[in-house]
Amino acid sequence: MIQFDSTHAFLKEDITSYQDQVTKIHEALLAKEGKGNDFLGWVEWPNQYDKEEFERILKVAEKVKDKAEVLLVCGIGGSYLGARAAIEMIQGLYSQNKTEVIFIGNTFSSTYFKQVEAYIQNKSVILNVISKSGTTTETAMAFRMLKQIMENKYGKEECKTRIIATTDKSRGTLKDLATKEGYETFVIPDDIGGRYSVTTAVGLLPLAIMGIDIKAIMDGGIQAYNDLANPDLKTNAAYQYAVARRILQNQGKDAEMLVTYEPQMTMVGEWWKQLFGESEGKDGLGVLPCSATFSTDLHSLGQFVQDGKKVLFETLLLVEHPTMDGLFPHDEENMDNMNYLENKSLDWVNKMACKGTLEAHEVTGNVPNIILTLPDMKEFSFGYMCYFFFRACAITCYLIDINPFNQPGVEVYKKNMFKLLGKN
Ligand code: PA5
Repeated sequence: MIQFDSTHAFLKEDITSYQDQVTKIHEALLAKEGKGNDFLGWVEWPNQYDKEEFERILKVAEKVKDKAEVLLVCGIGGSYLGARAAIEMIQGLYSQNKTEVIFIGNTFSSTYFKQVEAYIQNKSVILNVISKSGTTTETAMAFRMLKQIMENKYGKEECKTRIIATTDKSRGTLKDLATKEGYETFVIPDDIGGRYSVTTAVGLLPLAIMGIDIKAIMDGGIQAYNDLANPDLKTNAAYQYAVARRILQNQGKDAEMLVTYEPQMTMVGEWWKQLFGESEGKDGLGVLPCSATFSTDLHSLGQFVQDGKKVLFETLLLVEHPTMDGLFPHDEENMDNMNYLENKSLDWVNKMACKGTLEAHEVTGNVPNIILTLPDMKEFSFGYMCYFFFRACAITCYLIDINPFNQPGVEVYKKNMFKLLGKN
């Protein structure tokens, strides 16, 4: 499903020389041992996800779908990025979906909030608030304001059918509030951290409301689980990628740029940055994850990649079959001199741009390139890709003895902020 290609990566070590280390990590992962092992629920999730809850997600989504002119998804970090990445990847940026999704609760920007408030004023709204802890300030602040706006508009009773909370199964402020108000609630499992949670209710409920085939997403995860069952570095593409990253960092490449040629994959880049950045960037270690969308960013960051300081490697996340395609037209006058492309498919042009850029960055720019190729941008591929990156991320972190499942660094800004905000 995902092909790994390191032939453009200038690896100075043999990937298979890491086999013993990787096999040990793989076994520990499956045995639920190692750092952060109380957050390994995602490992078996494709096989062991809660089927009853899954059915309830489908049912509730079906019920609210027709009411939802706008679906507000209120959450941040792992409670936000996966759903957004999936919706954009699968439906594209200008889909004909009659439900529009707006993500909120991921910023303190007053302008952002007030603009959304004005925008939804005359629209029928469904609100899914998502927070595992239930106390994240960005989300809690936005939720209180949205709750009041909706109660004023619909009344408390109607809000019971329009507000859905996804949170811890039994504790926390949001759980208590949802129970008191009589909202439908969905569970974020105890042993699955935010950034590993897109295939739990965190991602699945908004996706189902948006009309996405969530069963196919789960099937993709199962396929990835099966394909990655063997830690053999000759065949396990996720583990090959995990090791290649380590080798490249050993060669002095401290930054990785995930590159897509599809604008609808830009948010996958954001999701991937969170997964790797929050998992790996600690103890003064880790590769800095950044992302770019080409050709757009070839006219900006492309200059740095080609010609700037040699600190980074690229990981091309390519897509074999685009969701849509068309032919470039003939023009009788050819004033723009573009007839040389007539009858060429638009995707072919994109792929040639990719080929030319790869050669420029690799041969002239001396920038290592890892290539990961996805078959398409459909649900199954999304589910597969998420599980692929979960595994790769865990293995690559454990290779430098890092706990992939905590985020102690994130607490520092919160402490300072709370002091300034006067929180006791
Ligand atoms: O990956 C993570 O664990 C974090 O990014 C969280 O998802 C994020 O901080 C939001 O937390 P919560 O769901 O508790 O509001």
